[in-house]
Amino acid sequence: MSMPPLPAFPPGFLWGASASAFQTEGGADTDGKGPSGWDAFAARGRIKDGADASRGTGFHARYREDVALLAGLGADAFRFSVSWPRVVPAGSGRVNAAGLGFYDRLVDALCAHGITPAPTLYHWDTPLPLEEAGGWLNRDTAARFAEYASVVAERLADRVPMWITINEPAEVTLLGYALGEHAPGKQLLFDALPAAHHQLLAHGLAVQALRAAGAANIGIAVSHSPVRTAGTSEEDRFAAELYDTITNWMFADPILTGRYPDENFAALMPGPVADDLAVISAPLDWYGVNYYHPMLVGAPSSDALGDFAGVGMPAELPFGLRDIESEERTDFGWPVVPDGLRELLVRLNDRFGDGLPPLYITENGCSYDGLDDPRRIAFLDAHLRSLHAAIDAGVDVRGYFTWSLTDNIEWVEGASQRFGLVHVDYETLERTPKASYAWYRDAIAAQRSAPQR
Ligand code: FCB
Repeated sequence: MSMPPLPAFPPGFLWGASASAFQTEGGADTDGKGPSGWDAFAARGRIKDGADASRGTGFHARYREDVALLAGLGADAFRFSVSWPRVVPAGSGRVNAAGLGFYDRLVDALCAHGITPAPTLYHWDTPLPLEEAGGWLNRDTAARFAEYASVVAERLADRVPMWITINEPAEVTLLGYALGEHAPGKQLLFDALPAAHHQLLAHGLAVQALRAAGAANIGIAVSHSPVRTAGTSEEDRFAAELYDTITNWMFADPILTGRYPDENFAALMPGPVADDLAVISAPLDWYGVNYYHPMLVGAPSSDALGDFAGVGMPAELPFGLRDIESEERTDFGWPVVPDGLRELLVRLNDRFGDGLPPLYITENGCSYDGLDDPRRIAFLDAHLRSLHAAIDAGVDVRGYFTWSLTDNIEWVEGASQRFGLVHVDYETLERTPKASYAWYRDAIAAQRSAPQR
């Protein structure tokens, strides 16, 4: 598929791809890895298409193949996640040398190809014993996370130049603890708020632990969606604002300003909140944004979709999600709204001003079936143009990690939603690059030979 070339991105812009441990590694019982809350959730039959999540994409055994695919892409960086229960099987205490050795080899393999390893320390796979003790509802989990962060940094900081503490604390809180669609499957609605605070605290404590262990260039990956108001009533505006606060600012504000966006939320959080906020807001080297699509929100009503990322929303929530008009939708049914990325980045820049560190897009991508995937190419092309427009508007964005290098286990959707540039045959685990892989490779190569801005 031939498209006009992308405009030139700033010199040094980092081109990458993303993945996570639970979604790819498989090998749940290799290396002495302990079980995670997600392993247990999957074993309870919660993966909708019945895919064998415990095999993942076989990344644990085939990581060298995927590193070669990254090298073939000409990628500058690979964002993967370290599985906490592979490194510390019980979540605290004994460190598993074999598990740590796996990431050591992966980092070496990436470095051997000149690819920057960018590990995420927590991409949702809480060690099961900690989950059973309350998971993120339990303040102790934050302290255990910091200990684990320092173990990983002590081993890898000499070769890892870019770190991510936590992936999408909002999704973990909402889907895992408030709505019960993701592990650990709790349906606490607003009583899930402590899970948000404890993840934020875990992030802050991990930043301290990483720096103490010699790691530098630390960020976090936070999901953001521009929220649009459906309707014109006062109730609609209130609902959209509340949704915006909960999903966007309840996480970004504490990290970037040291305050919760609303005193009412701060009052609902557990523990010494003011002291915790000082830890949570330690200056970051950069801030990661995961963007998929905007949200359209109004007052709860019978015509509301009742759907959050494909998940049923209980009627008693004080907002209702509506369908965004969009000619194009991914296989997931998600609307394709490339300009939402520019809109969001400009909004972050306006809200935080000088308090906003340099940004990276830590995830952006789409689910489409098939090896010939012109719709993914169109998606990526349009989103990169939108990102470029944000840079032109003055937002400091330093890199882009597409989600994902290969197809992988899309949480409860299992193998049915394919986000990869590379197809995975889940029977044989064979990898086949899609048309979008060649497109991204050529786009990266063209940037390298483009005249500098
Ligand atoms: C994000 C997750 C990532 C992947 C994409 C599609 O919310 O961080 O693991 O599932 O969605």
